[in-house]
Amino acid sequence: MPPQDDVVKARLKALEEVLKIVEYEKPKIIGLGSGSTISLLIDRIANLGLNNLSFVCSSIGSSLRLSSYGFKVLSLESVDQVDLYVDSADEVDPNLDMVKGGGGCLTLEKILAYNSSMRIFVVDYGKLVDRLCLRRPIPLDVIPQAISMVCRKLRSVGFRPEVRLTDRGKFGPLISDIGGVLVDLYIDGGVDNPGKLDMMLKSIPGIVETGLFIGYADLLVVGYPDKVIFKRGKT
Ligand code: 5RP
Repeated sequence: MPPQDDVVKARLKALEEVLKIVEYEKPKIIGLGSGSTISLLIDRIANLGLNNLSFVCSSIGSSLRLSSYGFKVLSLESVDQVDLYVDSADEVDPNLDMVKGGGGCLTLEKILAYNSSMRIFVVDYGKLVDRLCLRRPIPLDVIPQAISMVCRKLRSVGFRPEVRLTDRGKFGPLISDIGGVLVDLYIDGGVDNPGKLDMMLKSIPGIVETGLFIGYADLLVVGYPDKVIFKRGKT
């Protein structure tokens, strides 16, 4: 893990580049992901007074942060397409496949990213990995009633599912923005073929969505303390 000061510097540097793209593209509707990187972006947008943007959010957390600055947030169901989606990730591999959901948000993020004309993911250099899930689990959004059956199935194929628990405020599992239970899936040795694994996981009834984002990044913006690197997705 890089030092925290460097991480913040790197993220802010990368976010400045993202803001330039936003100002150039002038999206009518901008979709926002969730997490500490996106919270920094929201703070910068507010500081710059970019009041002409319309937002739709992938989480209650991002919606509340935008609203606290006085921005109007469109409801997800009122929007059928997004012009530009901006989000971060927990891990990104050399093919720009990603793991997301470390902050508990993934299903609405994937829906917004899928339905966006352009998808930008912005990370600090500490998120780049050679192979996904060597150090982190894959978050899954699971229908609550299916939790025992889903976990049994996952264990039977050699994975280690762990229901994510709240650390304070509520006893029991962490509930996702869509009312699911979050399960962190540990895979010894990491993931060989993220696309294949995503399909396999989605074929298990009860798993609503996975934190594997395959082929979603049109542009990856990677911040370092002293530079920013851009990587284009394959599509
Ligand atoms: C939320 C996400 C985030 O994009 C991911 O966890 C990165 O978060 P952060 O910017 O806090 O490092 O997928 O579930």
